Amino acid sequence: MTQVDAPIGIFDSGFGGLTVARAVVDLLPNEDIVYLGDTARTPYGPRSIAQVREYTLQCLDALVERGVKALVIACNTGSSAALRDARERYSLPIIDVILPAAGRALMTTRNAHIGVVCTEATATSRAYNDALGAAPVTLTTAVAPKFVEFVEAGVTTGEEVLALASEYLAPLKAAEVDTLILGCTHYPLLSGVIGYVMGESVALVSSADECARAAFATLTRLDLLRKSPHNAERVFLTTGDPARFEGLGQRLMGGFVQGVAQVNV
Ligand code: DGL
Repeated sequence: MTQVDAPIGIFDSGFGGLTVARAVVDLLPNEDIVYLGDTARTPYGPRSIAQVREYTLQCLDALVERGVKALVIACNTGSSAALRDARERYSLPIIDVILPAAGRALMTTRNAHIGVVCTEATATSRAYNDALGAAPVTLTTAVAPKFVEFVEAGVTTGEEVLALASEYLAPLKAAEVDTLILGCTHYPLLSGVIGYVMGESVALVSSADECARAAFATLTRLDLLRKSPHNAERVFLTTGDPARFEGLGQRLMGGFVQGVAQVNV
């Protein structure tokens, strides 16, 4: 297999990265993908940065062993802990979620008040502060510890999740952010409730959509895209229960999640 014909590897701690995978499939329908969700060890958000780094590199190693042509770290938490190490470790293009989302937020804000809602580990790493660098904006960060558990349980609407969102997002409303980065790839699945709580005047930036655009741009620039139409092969791997992954994946994401297999990393 030539490098161009190799699949794109996509990694997340669980289901959330499927929001990136779906966006990648929309933009790059000819490309084979191998998705790996570390559902046996999700959530990563409450773990230490060192542990998230270790788990992330184990999962990326597993994708590299499958001969991928590029790595998409479809996990803000994994990216904030391991992006630098990954860039040193692999001689492959690596696309992350944080830089593209921060860039889009900078281009979107009108009042220079940007918010990010993310996991505890992403907040601790200050990766979004670093990504926004010296730009003349203020960044307000809110953590949403239980959002990932709700998504992993397939619950994205209802009173409980609405009450949680109102609580978690209150500091962002108080800071009058006009642009909110969904700084976890699980959160696009909660954009109904997050958008409702923040109100119509606040623009939501999906790190998943921005990451897919960055993947398109990177692979185009490096001339790594397949040249002709192709019935793409999409492989889904989980460290957890494949039947559960497939069931929930299909319910939340539709039919493209099929033939899920279990792997150890
Ligand atoms: N989807 C992941 C992210 O983008 C993390 C979820 C977790 O495992 O806590 O940060």
